[in-house]
Amino acid sequence: MTLEELRSKLEEELKNVKLNLQALNELKAQYLGKKGPIQELMLEMKNLPKEEKPAFGERVNALKMLANQLFDEKRKELEQREVEEKLKKEAVDVTLPGKKFNEGSVHVISKVIEEVEDLFISMGYEVKDGPEVEKDEYNFRLLNVPKNHPARAMQDTFYVDVETLLRTQTSAAQAHTMLEYKGEKDIRIICPGKAYRRDEDDATHSHQFTQIEGLVVNKDASMAELKGTLEVMAKRLFGEDREIRLRPSYFPFTEPSIEVDVSCFKCRGKGCSLCKDTGWIEILGAGMVNNNVLSMCGYDPKVYQGFAFGVGVERIAMLKYGIDDIRSLYSDDLRLLKQFKL
Ligand code: DAH
Repeated sequence: MTLEELRSKLEEELKNVKLNLQALNELKAQYLGKKGPIQELMLEMKNLPKEEKPAFGERVNALKMLANQLFDEKRKELEQREVEEKLKKEAVDVTLPGKKFNEGSVHVISKVIEEVEDLFISMGYEVKDGPEVEKDEYNFRLLNVPKNHPARAMQDTFYVDVETLLRTQTSAAQAHTMLEYKGEKDIRIICPGKAYRRDEDDATHSHQFTQIEGLVVNKDASMAELKGTLEVMAKRLFGEDREIRLRPSYFPFTEPSIEVDVSCFKCRGKGCSLCKDTGWIEILGAGMVNNNVLSMCGYDPKVYQGFAFGVGVERIAMLKYGIDDIRSLYSDDLRLLKQFKL
């Protein structure tokens, strides 16, 4: 085969549209390999007369270079085509609608707890945890409610045995914290958690419920600070233009004891069904820590004083979100839960 024939044959073969990269490599090996036609032409050179050798050599070399160049070009073209085909095959239709996932939501009870926690953390309080299965001692005795004290009737209790019960109030955290801090350290804590009472379940009562206890003990805690603190909480929970009102009350562990009302956020104090036409809604109990409690828990009441408060989380959630049956807070009804997406 002459040089020209070889060249046009190669060009012809490279035009073959069905060529793929593998076939191209094989073809290249065929043409440019040791036993290929170009190498053969090189070998033929030795049979030529001396004077023809340089010109012939140059032409074979040129063909070799041309062949290399043609193979390179073809390889690039095939690679490009392969990428394009892959892109076409794997193309994603971004306009197709995506799959919908069921998103969870934060339960209203958790939401209220988080809101109150955030607020009190910002005021320098520590968040504490306490056991739900509790000793009578912490739940009652150290809180100034000895056995047979009539105040026990205020909270109908689930007993595990004579000394052990399901805590009826997160106030039990008060005794734990004071004893832990050994009558020396200042205390500023809140303790959110579950509490239990032997109540008949109805629209406003549940045998299991949630409270947030607050306790401050130091050398200058005062009723004024308690009032200011509760006012900040009421405004945060129910709106900046809320007011609070303190009423005298009785709790064995505080003296004086108060109950706190917030001005009705529905009728703004005019009177409506929510506030039973009084313009005020009761939201929590509080007071100055009773001296007996301070001293039983290791704090000298001549040096230390404290205030405490206890909030019912369900009540706050029901008021805030207009939920009229406490039982719906414990049901798994998605219609309720879905309304409280983050
Ligand atoms: N533990 C009380 C209850 O469950 C609420 C309470 C009232 C807590 C006054 C307090 C307090 O810390 O000072 O009814």
